[in-house]
Amino acid sequence: PTTSSASKLVVLGYASVGKSSLVLRFCKGLFYEYQEPTVGAAFLTQTITFGTTETKLEIWDTAGQERYQSLAPMYYRGAAAALIVFDITNYESFIKAKNWVKEVKQQSQSNEILVLVGNKVDMESDRKVDYSEAENYAIELNLAYFETSAKSGYNVKEVFIEVAKMLPQT
Ligand code: GTP
Ligand code: MG
Repeated sequence: PTTSSASKLVVLGYASVGKSSLVLRFCKGLFYEYQEPTVGAAFLTQTITFGTTETKLEIWDTAGQERYQSLAPMYYRGAAAALIVFDITNYESFIKAKNWVKEVKQQSQSNEILVLVGNKVDMESDRKVDYSEAENYAIELNLAYFETSAKSGYNVKEVFIEVAKMLPQT
């Protein structure tokens, strides 16, 4: 028999790392070269089926610009999982991602699933964050690490499927 459940997922990270682009790619199969900065947060849903399990992901895509930072706890508290995104071509965004990991681990329920995502791998020649540095950090903190491109679609579906698999089935 098919089981179905719904889970809240929050997407966090520095401005312009590609949070909205990842969500838009996953939920609608679209990518915009000139994606507008998110104001406050955006809400999208997508249903994933693997095996006999159907999971509806209710995704809060948060705004990364500094002025919206104080809103983030509203979205990550009570989320079953958090995607923490950085841009592999922007080292500062990796530092910010580490801060988000620390904050979410401190502020949320201990069982919140955290996944680290290095986006924009289509810009490999501009890479500023080594794969191994991000991976070692993720291993140390016991997080899953994925590299993606919202632009090409590389690994995007895989991230969300992995999250859905990690969610406790209710
Ligand atoms: P805020 O909402 O301000 O926090 O930004 P965001 O993290 O949602 O970033 P957004 O999705 O708006 O993307 C910012 C810019 O990066 C846009 O111009 C996107 O087209 C571009 N972008 C996003 N993902 C990728 C990617 O994988 N590769 C490349 N080359 N560009 C990307
Ligand atoms: Mg956005």
